[in-house]
Amino acid sequence: MSEPSPVTTRREGDVALILVDNPPVNALSQAVRTGLLAQVSAAVADPSVHALVIACEGRTFIAGADIREFGKPPLAPGLNEVLAAMEGSTKPVVAAIHGTALGGGFEVALACHARIADPKASVGLPEVKLGIVPGAGGTQRAPRLAGPVAALEMMASGKPVKAIEAKAKGLLDAISGPDLRADAIALARELTEKPPRRTSQLIIPPYDQDEFEKAASSVLARARGQLSPVKVVEAVRLATRLSFEEGLKAERAIFAELVGSDQARALRYAFFAEREVQRVPHLHGVEPRRVDTVGVIGAGTMGAGIAVALLDAGLRVTVVETSTQAVGAGWDRIAGLYARAMKSGRLDESGKDERLSRLTVTEDFGDLAGMDLVIEAAFEDMAVKKDIFARLGTTARHGAVLATNTSYLDVNEIAEASGRPADVIGLHFFSPANIMRLVEVVEGAASAKEAVATGVALAKRLGKLPVTCGVCDGFVGNRILAAWRQVTDFALEDGALPQEVDAALESYGMAMGPFAVADLAGLDIGWARRKRLAATRDPRGRYGGTVADRLCAQGRFGQKTGMGYYRYENGKRQVDPEVSDLVENVSTELRRKREPFDADRLVRRVRAAMVNEGAKILREGIVARALDIDMVLLHGYGFPAWRGGPMFEADAIGLPAVLADVRDLHQAYGAGWEPAPLLVELAENGGSFAAHGRPAA
Ligand code: CAA
Repeated sequence: MSEPSPVTTRREGDVALILVDNPPVNALSQAVRTGLLAQVSAAVADPSVHALVIACEGRTFIAGADIREFGKPPLAPGLNEVLAAMEGSTKPVVAAIHGTALGGGFEVALACHARIADPKASVGLPEVKLGIVPGAGGTQRAPRLAGPVAALEMMASGKPVKAIEAKAKGLLDAISGPDLRADAIALARELTEKPPRRTSQLIIPPYDQDEFEKAASSVLARARGQLSPVKVVEAVRLATRLSFEEGLKAERAIFAELVGSDQARALRYAFFAEREVQRVPHLHGVEPRRVDTVGVIGAGTMGAGIAVALLDAGLRVTVVETSTQAVGAGWDRIAGLYARAMKSGRLDESGKDERLSRLTVTEDFGDLAGMDLVIEAAFEDMAVKKDIFARLGTTARHGAVLATNTSYLDVNEIAEASGRPADVIGLHFFSPANIMRLVEVVEGAASAKEAVATGVALAKRLGKLPVTCGVCDGFVGNRILAAWRQVTDFALEDGALPQEVDAALESYGMAMGPFAVADLAGLDIGWARRKRLAATRDPRGRYGGTVADRLCAQGRFGQKTGMGYYRYENGKRQVDPEVSDLVENVSTELRRKREPFDADRLVRRVRAAMVNEGAKILREGIVARALDIDMVLLHGYGFPAWRGGPMFEADAIGLPAVLADVRDLHQAYGAGWEPAPLLVELAENGGSFAAHGRPAA
């Protein structure tokens, strides 16, 4: 017997209510497309039906094409065929939207004659994030409703738009009351009085050509190597010039070109890896502990950001500081973050007051006694942290999870100091902690599985992306960063200038060049770390910190001092000739020959350093899967999502080529740069990081 169709029709008098039911997100699988076409055609042919409503069961309207079908041969019927039947109907067709109408889902709605949405719904065309453009008329229909500028902004950012805003833009016709379906049926009946309003037949509303060109240039400037936003601009431009039919044909060609591209493949991988990374194999079935109250130790930049993230998620938060003055400053810092959120319109007065009503800032360490979980965000110093954990060990209640936000220090040593290491984990947030999505959940040698699962659950509750890893210096992200940043430091000594290195890596697709990032983060942190590691550094290895040390010795700590690798005037970054001189002097002093800068070689070396360190991390079992590493780089370090991540990209390039680059690194930089044994094995045996550690199918 054949499977029941995920699309059915329920009669509501003279209206056919066509319902899609394809959990979890009503993706437009082949069965859904077939069902929609059949039900729409039947309703159109049935003389007793006067109007149609398309609605969905479950948590959302159609959330888009079934991404799993991309990259495979297309299966009939295509979505455009379904939409042509829908839009061509002589009876009104209304979309009743709840949840998120995304991608192909919103394209279904755009092809209806009217759209009504629940006030909490949102709509969007996020295809650009999957490396493609809307492929079922979205690039041609959205500009006809919202105008080319608003349509371009929506498609180029891929960000969903809330129902109220979407209505203001002309993308929706009505916002429903509490009963969406009843309102949609009523609207459909009203429309039987008029001829159907077909989006494809509308003319592009008048718009400001200069404004469009400005929006287009800004999209192109932000694309940094990613193809899909560039193609969105092209498709919208065509919508302003061509007939709907010609525009649709052109859109189809662009879609077909992109969907099989390396970038789209990488972005699909990133989409699924982002979900997979949260399913930690060895924590399967482990129940997290209950968390309602959280303590935070330290109200500096990190502590305040963490407190805001916790408050935003509805938790009760107690922040501990060491003096009355620090308590006041801590409160101000947290309130300041909320003031900024209000200024940008992300939060209103009552939202701020409600959040602050759940916050206590205190000098009394004893107030942590009742907390379900405590996050230490104090000064990055082992003695300070051990002292805090020794006190926490006796103060915190039985079963409370004790987390350190250290970025580099040994979580096992900190855990031992508490006297109850099973309760201790690392929760490594990234700055600004209320914004950045990544959290490394660090599992110590003695951490109880429930404690780790609690860290993962808490991070998810904060809307963050938890990546679980083991203990090593710098964990996943900072350890890989330390490796490839050395390559960029060596490059300065060997002939490059900071702005050249930054430009090369930005054109590779990184959100920001490493020296600009260093200036933003503050050079003093790295300085302290280099001093701490000086005694244990392998004397055979090349040291790359001389330029940074000299900058720090001059008090050039980055943006906060107005000077670092660059000079800052009115917050604007500028190349500083004094830095160029300093860099050249360091080369002379170290007797390094300055060679002409080769951007391509630098990029290959940076990637090789990342992959080599990643291979070591995998072999040491710090993480179980290559995708864990990729997700850390994508969500915490501005690595271009359209490359998938360094490990994914290495597989795509071919491991023998990457190994050759690592050998070049080794030859150039000597001890410490030997190829990782796992990389050598995989490269020589035709293996891949994707398949590594996974049982053969
Ligand atoms: N295709 C296939 N599977 C999908 C999917 C899609 N479009 N969207 C979500 N899923 C899957 C997820 O992989 C996940 O599966 P697992 O439980 O096995 O991990 C499950 O559905 C639930 O998804 P989330 O965990 O993401 O659930 P959420 O509630 O947090 O978010 C969502 C829901 C906002 C819809 C989010 O899933 C999302 O953004 N999905 C992608 C939407 C999208 O990009 N649509 C455009 C597709 S391209 C297109 O439509 C092209 C075209 O022009 C025809």
